[in-house]
Amino acid sequence: MSIDQLPEIAQAMVARGKGIIAIDESNATIKKRFDTVGVENTEENRRAYREMLLTTPGLGEHISGAILYDETLRQKTKDGVPFTQVMMDNGILPGIKVDKGTTPLAGFPGEVVTDGLDGLRERLNEYAGLGAKFAKWRAVININIEDGMPSDTCIEANAHALARYAALCQEAGIVPMVEPEVIMDGEHDIDDCFVVTEKVLRALFNALYQHNVMLEGTILKASMVIPGKDCPDQASVEDVADYTVQCLKSAVPAALPGIVFLSGGQSDEDATAHLNEMNKVENLPWPLSFSYGRAMQSAALKIWGQDIVNNVGKAQETVHARARDNGLAAMGECK
Ligand code: 13P
Repeated sequence: MSIDQLPEIAQAMVARGKGIIAIDESNATIKKRFDTVGVENTEENRRAYREMLLTTPGLGEHISGAILYDETLRQKTKDGVPFTQVMMDNGILPGIKVDKGTTPLAGFPGEVVTDGLDGLRERLNEYAGLGAKFAKWRAVININIEDGMPSDTCIEANAHALARYAALCQEAGIVPMVEPEVIMDGEHDIDDCFVVTEKVLRALFNALYQHNVMLEGTILKASMVIPGKDCPDQASVEDVADYTVQCLKSAVPAALPGIVFLSGGQSDEDATAHLNEMNKVENLPWPLSFSYGRAMQSAALKIWGQDIVNNVGKAQETVHARARDNGLAAMGECK
């Protein structure tokens, strides 16, 4: 694919009423999820679980793309059909997580930077050959106001890595989904989250500009502006929506084809309600949709985990219901 085709892919990712399902957990992270429902973390169980998700009847009605992990991109259904084929047949674009997780930022205790740039050009070329149309890189920004976190150094280092990754993606004909996640853990309030998120986004778009990244062929995966989990002052749905839209408007160029949100530990209900409320705002500069991991999967995982052979259909009904509700929320139409 050439760079000219990237805007079309990016627009398809945020088509009206559609969003992304993130199923790109590394083998270590999926183990944590499987442990909660007592499923053994074997390659076959991971394959069966992802097959359940990706073969959900009607998934393509509300889902435009799925982010996979390296192992999953290479796997097939039990009948031998590559997952990428199943996806394309249902109008679901294959995406791939290409970062290699976080590592402590030397000199800045408590802060991290994301690994994975070494050899990335070669990996992206291989992923393009395997059918990946978009890729994701997650940066992690922790807030601890008393300890001066995040530092400017942490914000800059992560923005720089995101920009280098994004430029490499576009060179390979893959749409970069840039994800600077401001983490919900901590006691900070919604104003602190606003200030940090705005700064992080401004640093990111400055770095993308410096690295000649074409915004029209880029998608932002953002965290919502929300108080820390341990903040005594929790915010209403309306406040989260207002703060988030205001923050994005102040820091994200209108040339971007779309913004999708991560769920970041919010309940399923909150993740949907917040997205729905934001989409009631008129004349937004970009489509606002979802790229949820936990908020798309957790209910289905519980059902599937009770009986991984016989509960496939029931679990898929839950996946479809979550996709439908979030798809409606992406239009402000979820009741
Ligand atoms: P959550 O929605 O569970 O936060 O996951 C989305 C994701 O892809 C994080 O990188």
